[in-house]
This record gives sequence, C-alpha cells and structure tokens, in this order.
Amino acid sequence: MTENHNKTPARRPAGHPSRIADPAPFPEDLQAESQLRPLSLADFVGQAAVKEQLAIFLAAARQRGEALDHVLLHGPPGLGKTTLAAILAHELGVEMTHTSGPVIERPADLAGLLTNLGPRGVLFVDEVHRLSPVVEEYLYPALEDFTLDILLDRGPSARSLKINLERFTLVGATTRAGLLSSPLRARFGMTLRLDYYDAEALATIVRRSAGIFDVPIEDEAAREIARRARGTPRVANRLLRRVRDVALVKADGAITLPVTHEALRLLEVDERGLDEMDRRLLEALIVKYQGGPVGLNTLALVVGEEAGTLEDVYEPFLIQEGFIKRTPRGREATPLAYAHLGLEAPAAAAGPARRGPDQPELPLP
Ligand SMILES: Nc1ncnc2c1ncn2[C@@H]1O[C@H](COP(=O)(O)OP(=O)(O)OP(=O)(O)O)[C@@H](O)[C@H]1O
Ligand SMILES: [Mg+2]
Repeated sequence: MTENHNKTPARRPAGHPSRIADPAPFPEDLQAESQLRPLSLADFVGQAAVKEQLAIFLAAARQRGEALDHVLLHGPPGLGKTTLAAILAHELGVEMTHTSGPVIERPADLAGLLTNLGPRGVLFVDEVHRLSPVVEEYLYPALEDFTLDILLDRGPSARSLKINLERFTLVGATTRAGLLSSPLRARFGMTLRLDYYDAEALATIVRRSAGIFDVPIEDEAAREIARRARGTPRVANRLLRRVRDVALVKADGAITLPVTHEALRLLEVDERGLDEMDRRLLEALIVKYQGGPVGLNTLALVVGEEAGTLEDVYEPFLIQEGFIKRTPRGREATPLAYAHLGLEAPAAAAGPARRGPDQPELPLP
C-alpha cells in the first residue's frame, strides 16, 4: 500500500489529553493496528450485512474482470473503515493508495494520485467530506468517465488537457456522511454504513488480537474487555494492550479475569465502558443543568471539548447506550444516566414534558 498522507489530527485538538476510550486513534495505536488489521473479508469480524454485500460486489467485479464500483464507507471512528478499504484492495488483488481529503490540496495533486494508480487500483480517500470544492469538481468526471480535464496555463494561452485514466475504484471513508456534498455522494455505486459491534463480535476480535500478540487469555477476560469497549474494535484492542501490560507486570503474563478487572480499575473504565470524560459529561448535564435540555455548544464549553468532537465521538455511544437523548431543544440525561452516577432522577426526568426556561446556546469561542 502506498501512503501519501499523515494522519490528520482534525478529530482531536492538539494537546487534548488522550482518553483510553477515545475511538480516534492515538499515535501508539497505529503500529499495533497495522499488525492487527485483518487482510481478508473472512477475517473481518462482525458487520454481517456489510460483509455479505461486499462479498457479492467483489465476486461480480472479479468475474467481469472490471474495477469495482466506487464505495463509500461511513460510520463512527475505529469501526473498521480503513481496514475494509485495505481488504477490498487485497481481495481484488490490486494496489491501494491511501490519502485523505484535506491532503489533496490542488487538482494537480489529484491528477498525480490518479495517474499513478496501478490497473484497476483503489484510491482510498479518508475524510472524504473534507475534499476542497475545486478538487471535487475535478473528481466528478474522473469518477464517471475516467477522464481528467486539466487546465494548463492561465489567461489567453490557457488550454485544457484531457487525460484518460485507467479504470479505478474510489473508496471514500467518513465519520460524517452528512457533510458530503450530494453530487459526490451520488457518484458512489455503493454506500456501506458500519455500526457499533456487539459484545460477542468484540470478544472474538479481542481473542484474535491476543492470539496475534501470543498472549494467553481467558474467555471470561476477553468478554469483559469486549463489554467495556464501547462497541469499537479500536478501543477493544487498546484495552487489550493495556491489560496485557498489567498481566505482564502483576501476573505471569496470562490475561485472567482478575487481572482484567484490576487493569480496568487502573484505567478508570467502568463496567459500562464509560471513562472519566463520559462521566464528566453526564455530570455536567445532570448537576449543572438539572438533566437538560442543554445545547450542544454549551455542553461542549462546560466539558472543554469541541462541539463537533462531542457530537461525532462521545455522544453516539452515550445515546446508543441510552445515557443521553438528543431532543430538538438540546441534550437530556436519561434516568439511566442518573442511576449510573448513583444519583436519584427527579420524577419528571422519566417523562418528556418538564423543564423551566430554555438554556441559551452560547456561541463557540
Ligand atoms: N471487523 C474487524 N475485525 C477485526 N479487527 C477490526 C475490525 N474492525 C476494526 N478492527 C481493528 O480496529 C482497528 C481500527 O480500525 P480502522 O482503522 O479500520 O477504523 P476506521 O473506521 O478506519 O477508524 P477512523 O474513522 O478513525 O479512520 C484496526 O486496526 C483493526 O485492528
Ligand atoms: Mg480510518
């Protein structure tokens, strides 16, 4: 695989303390991840519906000897978008070039990437919602007719040069499908959404990773790690690596259930997989704002996080697990959130109609 990008830190502001449960990658994850990344569709755990669609799609492309149609992968961070893109290329037996939306600054960068792709190659564009509008304009004919019209010179001597490209497959990935322009979205032949993994799939991933690390792990320990991994393989693998360290130092290296409990206690990951930041968020909502509703921007300010990060990274899991609700007027804590923090929910928190004056939205700094 060719790499021409640096992992853009857009999703985590510089200097922000890393959280163990953060689904975005830490620098130290990247090396472990390349070791743990499954290479074939058969080794990709879970996501049955996505796998089934892809298997058919791949078989058809192979039988026709054609490039695969363009694929859009979307879903929260750490669920396997990059992994799937690499699997696609691997299964097709073609080269993949890995880049990212903001890295392609000028049409010439795009032309360079596309003309350098091998036959039926895969161009993987991470953060595809961050392509510049100019680059997008150039991309459309490339996606549809496999041609590029490059403008040479400016002013009176300007002329355009048409370049015929080999057929290729664009695999776009994004955590924010909603930000994709509709003309770009329309040019993907297949759109696949990755969803949070269930505990069973995550336990399988943990056992598989432990096998690659050559560390013995009890079944119960793998399941415990899985339960606290927020439905996210990246978090599961990260927890496993930390538990492995504790096992090495405090036990004889084997990952048992007591070692796992001890490690998770040290990491401050609670039994539902919530970490300190999640609890801070729920606490702000409940203690400062009587359970809400609170506007996203206000909440972001209170916990010291960017609104976009809160919305894309922290909230989805808390919403899916039923700790908070998104309402038209803002975020609300559910009775489960009160219970989780050991607080008593006001009687009205269970019902929808409640609440004094609305919380004004503060502008972002
Ligand atoms: N289905 C899976 N089976 C086994 N391992 C997986 C699976 N999905 C993800 N992983 C593991 O989780 C790690 C993170 O996955 P990946 O980098 O593909 O996520 P992503 O969706 O691209 O995240 P981001 O949005 O941050 O780019 C991979 O290195 C891989 O080890
Ligand atoms: Mg990725």
